[in-house]
Amino acid sequence: MNLRSSFFIFIFLLKLSTFSQASQVFKCLYQNPGEYVYSCYLIEANITNSSEPIEFINDHIEGKTSKDVKSLVTPLEEFSFPVKLELIHEQIFEEFPNIEFLYFTPGIGMKTLNLGNCAKIKEFEIYKNEIKEILNNAFINCKNMTKISHGYCNSGSIEAGALRHLTKLEELTITSFPTTFNHIKELLSGLTNLQKIYFDNNLLENFTTGIFNDLKKLENLRMTNNKFTTIPAGVFDGLENLINLDLKSNQITNLNQDSFKGLFKLDTLNLDFNYISDLSSFPFNPLTSLTDLSLIKNSFPTLPTGFFEKNTKLLSVSFSSCDIKEINTGIFDSHLSLSVISLNNNQITSLPPDAFKNLPNLTFISFYNNSIKRLNSNSFVNLIKLDWFNIEFNQLDEIEPNFIRNFPKLRVFDARRNICTDKYLYDMSEPYDQWFSECYYNWEYGRTTIKSSNETSTSTTTEEYKSSTNNEQTSTVTTTTTVHGEILKIKVEILILLIIFLNFL
Ligand SMILES: *[C@@H]1O[C@H](CO)[C@@H](O)[C@H](O)[C@H]1NC(C)=O
Ligand SMILES: *[C@@H]1O[C@H](CO)[C@@H](O)[C@H](O)[C@H]1NC(C)=O
Ligand SMILES: *[C@@H]1O[C@H](CO)[C@@H](O)[C@H](O)[C@H]1NC(C)=O
Ligand SMILES: *[C@@H]1O[C@H](CO)[C@@H](O)[C@H](O)[C@H]1NC(C)=O
Ligand SMILES: *[C@@H]1O[C@H](CO)[C@@H](O)[C@H](O)[C@H]1NC(C)=O
Ligand SMILES: *[C@@H]1O[C@H](CO)[C@@H](O)[C@H](O)[C@H]1NC(C)=O
Ligand SMILES: *[C@@H]1O[C@H](CO)[C@@H](O)[C@H](O)[C@H]1NC(C)=O
Repeated sequence: MNLRSSFFIFIFLLKLSTFSQASQVFKCLYQNPGEYVYSCYLIEANITNSSEPIEFINDHIEGKTSKDVKSLVTPLEEFSFPVKLELIHEQIFEEFPNIEFLYFTPGIGMKTLNLGNCAKIKEFEIYKNEIKEILNNAFINCKNMTKISHGYCNSGSIEAGALRHLTKLEELTITSFPTTFNHIKELLSGLTNLQKIYFDNNLLENFTTGIFNDLKKLENLRMTNNKFTTIPAGVFDGLENLINLDLKSNQITNLNQDSFKGLFKLDTLNLDFNYISDLSSFPFNPLTSLTDLSLIKNSFPTLPTGFFEKNTKLLSVSFSSCDIKEINTGIFDSHLSLSVISLNNNQITSLPPDAFKNLPNLTFISFYNNSIKRLNSNSFVNLIKLDWFNIEFNQLDEIEPNFIRNFPKLRVFDARRNICTDKYLYDMSEPYDQWFSECYYNWEYGRTTIKSSNETSTSTTTEEYKSSTNNEQTSTVTTTTTVHGEILKIKVEILILLIIFLNFL
């Protein structure tokens, strides 16, 4: 049982309790959930004035005192507990001198962010509050802070030196910040222990050189849904430990040959939903460790020969929705370890001989929603592990006889929603004639009964294939919405309890 989800247990107590009328009250429900730390779940508070003293109403678990409290968790707005915490009153740290975790869940009306005497605080989370500005003194004493998450607040500004003292910081999340914070360089300077940065859904627009200079330990950098337009040469240079870089949903147009310079360890690069139209500068050449490259929804009608030939460790590439019209022979030749190729939603009409040749580990290839008319055996040479071939929703009406025999390990051939009436499809020799007439075959489950050649796909998107075969890759993405996920869980639990409670009555 975790810290937050144990909160629900006390819903009854809460419903029954009467609330004190004193103006600056602070009342906790104390809990020692499972093996977790002794915690205060704030159930009543009205802290609005830093000069008025607080009256603490303590009802500790036997044997415990305020000195044992390690975490402070505020309630969720959904329950309308009478908790108002406009500021972090000095007396809170005096009362609970050993607090290490502060989780301020949405809606407590926090207006001023100043953690005061926070020397022992390790983790601080705040979502959806009324904080207007984060000043240089906000975290001034928080020398032991390792993790900060700040999101969906009304903050108008964050001062350049606000994080300056946090030399132990390992993880920093700032999401949905309603105005631009342009001094990222100053903000991050000196944070030499930072390993994870999540700056999603902000209005960030310019990378400045040297911005990440101090971050030698950075492993994850995620800045999705911002307004970046270019990646200047060398901006990531020095991030020698960066493993994941996610710049999905920006407005990046072109890349230059040094955009990704210095990222020797980069494993995953996501540039989906940008405006990249020219790869002729070979921007990916420095990324010799890359295993996963995703460029979904960009626009480059041809894949320039050799543009990713230095990325010889690639396991998965996606060039879906990129307006690709043509696949050059040899483009995949140096990618012996490739396992997944996705070319969905393009405008490819034909595949040249040797387009996909000698890829001994290729298991999945997908051309969903292109305009391919004919499949020739000589386009697919030596794909000994191919497991899944998706050519659904094309213009296919001709498949070279025995085409499928190229692939000794093929399990699924999906050619639904094609023209699929050509005699070649029917004339395939046994045992394949029947399934070709149905345009779909899955060896694992036997012959399908799908009769219609324009049946909608249910099962074969690349993303699903990837997630079923490549769990490690997908789990590297951590979300900023954990708080909301947990809230949802708690809500469901409370609903169940209320139902039980009503039955009891
Ligand atoms: C908090 O205190 C103010 C002023 O002391 C009062 O007007 C308000 O009703 C109180 N709110 C709660 C929830 O007790
Ligand atoms: C805060 O409390 C002090 C001392 O009681 C009082 O003088 C002051 O007016 C209060 N401030 C507000 C904004 O209520
Ligand atoms: C900071 O953390 C270190 C290591 O966890 C600990 O030894 C030290 O006492 C902490 N400092 C304070 C002020 O709590
Ligand atoms: C970002 O760069 C563009 C073009 O160089 C410039 O016009 C704009 O003012 C910059 N924005 C910020 C916030 O520095
Ligand atoms: C293919 O995959 C196997 C097993 O995962 C691996 O040992 C081998 O090195 C891979 N081959 C290439 C050329 O990457
Ligand atoms: C097929 O791909 C085109 C882009 O080439 C896209 O506009 C269209 O929405 C896709 N259709 C489907 C059904 O996915
Ligand atoms: C297949 O598509 C055609 C034309 O869009 C339509 O007339 C026909 O009813 C569809 N067949 C089935 C079984 O849905």
